[in-house]
Amino acid sequence: MKEIGEYQDIVFKEIEKFQKGNKDFSLYEPVNYILDLGGKRLRPVLTLLATDLFEGTIADSIKPALGIEVFHNFTLLHDDIMDNAPVRRGKAAVHEKWNVNAAILSGDVMFVQAFILVTSCKNEFLRDVLDLFNITAVEVCEGQQHDMDFESRNDVSIDEYIEMIRLKTSVLVACALKLGAILAGAPKQDAEKLYEFGLSLGIAFQIKDDILDVFGDASLVGKKVGGDILANKKTYLLLRALEDADESQNVTLKNWLSKEGGADKVEAVTEIFEALSVKEKADEVMDGYYQKSIEALDSIQIDPSKKQYLYDFAASLMNRNF
Ligand code: IPE
Ligand code: IPE
Ligand code: MG
Ligand code: MG
Ligand code: MG
Repeated sequence: MKEIGEYQDIVFKEIEKFQKGNKDFSLYEPVNYILDLGGKRLRPVLTLLATDLFEGTIADSIKPALGIEVFHNFTLLHDDIMDNAPVRRGKAAVHEKWNVNAAILSGDVMFVQAFILVTSCKNEFLRDVLDLFNITAVEVCEGQQHDMDFESRNDVSIDEYIEMIRLKTSVLVACALKLGAILAGAPKQDAEKLYEFGLSLGIAFQIKDDILDVFGDASLVGKKVGGDILANKKTYLLLRALEDADESQNVTLKNWLSKEGGADKVEAVTEIFEALSVKEKADEVMDGYYQKSIEALDSIQIDPSKKQYLYDFAASLMNRNF
């Protein structure tokens, strides 16, 4: 096992190699740009961690791990168009720096590049890897569509929200982990438990993302604060606020949901969130999913000193401010 920083270095070097292979052509400029902006690169690190956990070979997992990161970055290119988000990782989003068409097509080519990378694995694992990645990619699209559909609905339940974030975010986190286990030839039931760990962790991770969207520091998060409020996103914060609001707060919230706004809308909705302590309530729900993920990790029978790396990494994701 290695320290997280060492896995990040391995991923960073592989990204540099990949970028060099992207010929000097306008199609690939946004690809190299978004990858240059960094991000936490947590998904490929999870793949490598999982590979080491089951005594696999990092060299066999690095290309598929990078494939997961390229896939994730593809979803961000399209997500920022769909969410009308101008800033990503502290810089102009691709559709702002170039245009929407560039973000669509560079995203599309990244989707294909992701498949090339993910399937650059030993033949003996190819069937399992493809089955996993195919279903994950479909589910992410399903989650994104729910997310969009929910923008114009005011009757979304908390259960529907959890299912939406399971699909749009947590299945990819779980996939990254299971992929690493598969490539290490881990027993099927252990790979499955690692997937369960990733599902709960991914849900907690997205609740944290929703919290940071409102209460984070823009310079750290690298996104425009309040974007979810402006887009009428049905986050846990908003759903809980709608549930807990008194009559006048409810009227105010519904009124803001029915119209476009700017800083005034963000401010007014945030004020209601604060009055109702929905951040604290979201923290509690996030912590519940985090605890669930820890229980899944507890049940995997491997060397505890190795598992500790995953416990620590999961905790750092919950405590993050970016
Ligand atoms: C952002 O993912 C999109 C979500 C699924 C919440 P990350 O928070 O992992 O973004 P980067 O890659 O670190 O920028
Ligand atoms: C992102 O969810 C999910 C995917 C990109 C699949 P968000 O829309 O909340 O992600 P951010 O906040 O823009 O990074
Ligand atoms: Mg978004
Ligand atoms: Mg989105
Ligand atoms: Mg978000």
